[in-house]
Amino acid sequence: MPESALSNSQIEAAYRAMTPSSAALAGKARNVFPSGITHDSRHMNPYGIYVDHAEGPRKWDVDGNEYVDYFGGHGALILGHNHPVVTDAVQSAYRKGTHFGASHALEVEWAEQVTRMVPCAEKVRFTSSGTEATLMAVRLARAYTGRSKIVRFRTHFHGWNDHMAPGQANHFDGTPTTGVISGIAASVVLVDPNDENGLVDALAAGDVAAVMLEPTGSSTGMVPVAPGFLSFLRQQTQAAGSLLIFDEVVTGFRVSPGGAQAAYGITPDLATFAKIIAGGLPGGAVTGKADIFDLLDFEASAAKGFEKIGHQGTYNANPVAAAAGIATLKIIENEDICKNANAFGDALRKRLNNEILNLGLNWAAYGEHSALHIFTNPKGRSITPDNFDPLKLPFMELKENATGVVPKLRQAMLLNGVDINGWPGGTISASHTEKELEETVLAFRNSVAMLKDEDAIP
Ligand SMILES: Cc1ncc(COP(=O)(O)O)c(C=O)c1O
Repeated sequence: MPESALSNSQIEAAYRAMTPSSAALAGKARNVFPSGITHDSRHMNPYGIYVDHAEGPRKWDVDGNEYVDYFGGHGALILGHNHPVVTDAVQSAYRKGTHFGASHALEVEWAEQVTRMVPCAEKVRFTSSGTEATLMAVRLARAYTGRSKIVRFRTHFHGWNDHMAPGQANHFDGTPTTGVISGIAASVVLVDPNDENGLVDALAAGDVAAVMLEPTGSSTGMVPVAPGFLSFLRQQTQAAGSLLIFDEVVTGFRVSPGGAQAAYGITPDLATFAKIIAGGLPGGAVTGKADIFDLLDFEASAAKGFEKIGHQGTYNANPVAAAAGIATLKIIENEDICKNANAFGDALRKRLNNEILNLGLNWAAYGEHSALHIFTNPKGRSITPDNFDPLKLPFMELKENATGVVPKLRQAMLLNGVDINGWPGGTISASHTEKELEETVLAFRNSVAMLKDEDAIP
């Protein structure tokens, strides 16, 4: 089929015309990758951009087009791309060697930095990703409590490991997703976000090892956590003898230097990290109360008479990732990075909501801290940014998008020089400035006009 016959959308035609080299790479990629991609969130119609290089809050594709970036390394880059201090630290670590197969000074400094910044972090175990961190958190919780069940909240994302799959994007009844065995799915109890009664019921049998959640809500606050719910959760888990796990893979070192737990003053038993903790390189960690980590400790487990949990991982605490992590965390500790990114978030959401009002859309820009979400109102409710309260809507509606709108919105935003993700929305860095704000607002205005021209929105 000729390319031009694929769609009669002018937005799509313009996108294809602007990105021929990305199209060529996407064509080759389809021969080697399922759907031509290496991460589900890069799935985009007709294909995503291929990026050549990036700097600060911007990136450039292989056709030379420039974009304001709201992917931010999937949330890893709160300092923006290529912060010079982080780049220098990485280069000097790289020159000394990428893997020693031995302990090294940087891993100690990295862990000390984490324990200084994160309230719950008495001990640390580094992993290579957030998925590995949540996997280890579950294993620690089960071993520590001697219980089998894990409580999760529907739509909350904790990586792609077997325990985290059912009830995240589908299978909200808890049945196993493709490739997950029923025994694992049955060990996970799904509760609706913010459902206090559901939580109490789930804890009642006394068989819950841990309750875990994204502490600002599903998908970095797309389904926000209701005020008071975290402290309710803390009380209830304590009373039930279950551990509380905050998945701070996105919120860690972003919401505040000490993560969501410091911002909200609620200390979990365990917390998982990735992304910012490794300064944009692959890396993650599970942190928490020291006695839980005895389960990973050769001497302590022998002294206490229990079987140690085995844990390997070729790239755990890799020295280059450690260097990036230390440099990034020190900057976050010493400068107003989180505050600045949060302030940009406030300003961007406000400005986009002004546009939404002026353009007469029944949408809303929302989110907390440095996260942006755009609600495209799949049920066509009569909503304005002024009366929009995400906590008053069914959580599934917040996760849904108006039919056909988001793919076009993303294409149109790219045509206008802004890369947003498919929530739709994104994460903000401290390198975003007034200039990026103005460009984003203008791109949004122009993109909505393009969508209206195509009757994609009323
Ligand atoms: C809240 C949360 N937990 C866990 C993960 C998984 O982390 P990773 O992609 O490093 O495996 C992610 C990734 O986006 C995440 O957003």
